[in-house]
Formats: sequence, C-alpha cells, structure tokens
Amino acid sequence: MLTNNTNTKPRIGLLGFGEAGARFAKDFSQAGFKHILAYSRTGSKAKPGDAITQRAQDSGVKLVKTVGTLAKKSDLIIVLTPGKSAIAVLKKIHKHLRPEHLYVDASTNSAAAMEKAALIVGNAARFVDAAIMGPVDLMGTKVPIVASGDHASAFRDLMNPYGMVISAVGTKPGDASAMKLIRSVLMKGLAALLIETMEAARRRGIMDEVIADSSVTFNQIPFEKIIKRYVNGTAVHCGRRIHEMQECLELLHDMGSSDRGTRTTIAMLRDLVKFGMPEQFPQEPDTIHPVIDAIIAARKK
Ligand SMILES: NC(=O)c1ccc[n+]([C@@H]2O[C@H](COP(=O)([O-])OP(=O)(O)OC[C@H]3O[C@@H](n4cnc5c(N)ncnc54)[C@H](OP(=O)(O)O)[C@@H]3O)[C@@H](O)[C@H]2O)c1
Repeated sequence: MLTNNTNTKPRIGLLGFGEAGARFAKDFSQAGFKHILAYSRTGSKAKPGDAITQRAQDSGVKLVKTVGTLAKKSDLIIVLTPGKSAIAVLKKIHKHLRPEHLYVDASTNSAAAMEKAALIVGNAARFVDAAIMGPVDLMGTKVPIVASGDHASAFRDLMNPYGMVISAVGTKPGDASAMKLIRSVLMKGLAALLIETMEAARRRGIMDEVIADSSVTFNQIPFEKIIKRYVNGTAVHCGRRIHEMQECLELLHDMGSSDRGTRTTIAMLRDLVKFGMPEQFPQEPDTIHPVIDAIIAARKK
C-alpha cells in the first residue's frame, strides 16, 4: 500500500545499485526508511565481504537475488540503471509488476525510450518518467527531479514529504526526459558559445574586459527578461544582425579563432529572415510565445 503517512512508509525497491542508488538509499535510511531493497546483477551474486555487500550495509539496503523478489516486496520501484539497460531490466521485471506499484524510471534516457517504457509497462503498474537534474553523489535525495506521466504527481506527493525535490512537468511520459535534454541545448550550447567568445577575446588580449562588459548585462537583468529580450529582439532585427555577424565571422577568421557558433548564429538569422519574422513582428510582442509559434509554423511549410 503506497502512502506518505510517516508511520507506513512505502517499501522501496532500487533497480540498479550504483552511485545514485547507494546515495539515495543512504538518505532514505536517514529519513527513517527501514525497508529498502536493491537488485543489480553484481548485487544478486554478492557474498559477505564483497564491496557491494559492504556498500549495501553502509546504506541500509538489503540486496535481493531476483527482480521478482524486488517487485514482490516493494511498493515504489526506482530504476537507477544506465539508460541503455532500462528497457532490458523493465522486460525482466514486467511479469512481476502489480497495478499498485509506482514504477519510476529515473535512468537518464531519451524521451523516445521513456515513451517506449511507458507503453511496455501499460496497465501493469503506474509508470513515471523521472529525470534527475543534478549530481546525486553531492545532493542525495535533495537533487531536483522532474517527473512526467499520469502518476508523476503521485510520486511527488509520496516522496517530497521525505525530503525529495520532485516536480511534475508536462503531460506525458517522455516530457521529463525531454526537459532534461532540452535544458542541455541551452546550457551546453551557452558553454560552447562562451568558449568561442573567450578564445577570440583572449587572442585579442581583451578577455577580462569582455568578461566584465558582458557580465554587466547578465548580472543586472533577470534571466526570464533576457530570454524575452533576446528571442523577440532577434525576430524583429534579424535582417540587420546578419551584417554585423558577418563582420564578427571575418574577425574570427582573421585571428584564426574558432567560428562554429558564429556560423550557426548567421544560419539561424537567415532562417528567421526567410520565415518573414520582421514582417510578422515589426515590434516586439509581450511574450515569446507568438514568435516561437511562428517559427514552428514556418518550419512545417
Ligand atoms: N550518479 C548521478 O549523480 C546521476 C545523476 C543524474 C542521473 N543519473 C542517472 O541515474 C542512473 C544511475 O546512475 P549511477 O551513477 O548510479 O550509475 P552506476 O554507478 O553506473 O550504477 C548503475 C547500476 O545499474 C546496475 N545495472 C546495470 N545494468 C543492469 C541490468 N541490466 N539489470 C540490473 N541492474 C543493472 C549496475 O550494476 P550491474 O552492472 O552489476 O548490474 C549498477 O548497480 C543512470 O541512468 C544515470 O545517468 C545519475
């Protein structure tokens, strides 16, 4: 029986018992959970004195020999295998699942893999796509998790009272994993663009000045406003920005500096001109929604 009543905590079954599983288990133990099981292939063959046996003892976990035992004796099953193993392990445990199980796939995976997992689970259990958004070894159960699917809010309501930081996003399985990947488009892309910018600035001997200058903008304006200003401003002014960015490209070439990000920027600006953004948006709208919707509509044509 699943509950968030502190007297009757859910029985936890960890499918995968590596870095994340061991750290979660340690925090669950400290939060008063007495019933934590874990299954992994190494764990299923563990002997006294093995490293994994010690790790299980240290984190208050009982290792089980089969996925069947894990399913039989757990209410909440959290998958913490590498992403590539998640479907295989699901197929292995599937016949042991019960409709009252909350089956939370927290492996890092594509949105498509989560959609597939949800289809495989079907009505056999209550499936949740969960994306872990930070380092578990540092943050433990306080690591932010986004969850999606019909049962995401049940997972949130069950475990947040024990210190987890789960938020429900989107409407269907795959949305949470997509959110993690889409966030990487921004974070990793921004990092790459910063490297390109700093390489050029350093070659020119003005890196500290460029850092100070650009920091003024980013320190003063809340990021929501930066998103709106950059997206909508680009829709309105894409035409004339192409010329300026071509000059940037020339400068980077002259210095022998990397230019991939800048070429991508020019390609994006050209797309926006081709889509007729300046004609559709002679002035900046109040939100970015109409601009992004117009881009999606234009790409469909
Ligand atoms: N650690 C983090 O900070 C962090 C942060 C964000 C997301 N994540 C995600 O969380 C998941 C777990 O991460 P981790 O760092 O704990 O990985 P890990 O240390 O590599 O542990 C993976 C665990 O899964 C088990 N496993 C692999 N294939 C299996 C299978 N077919 N059946 C049963 N168990 C299997 C492994 O044991 P055996 O090989 O012995 O079976 C091991 O216990 C990953 O998807 C990772 O991307 C982790």
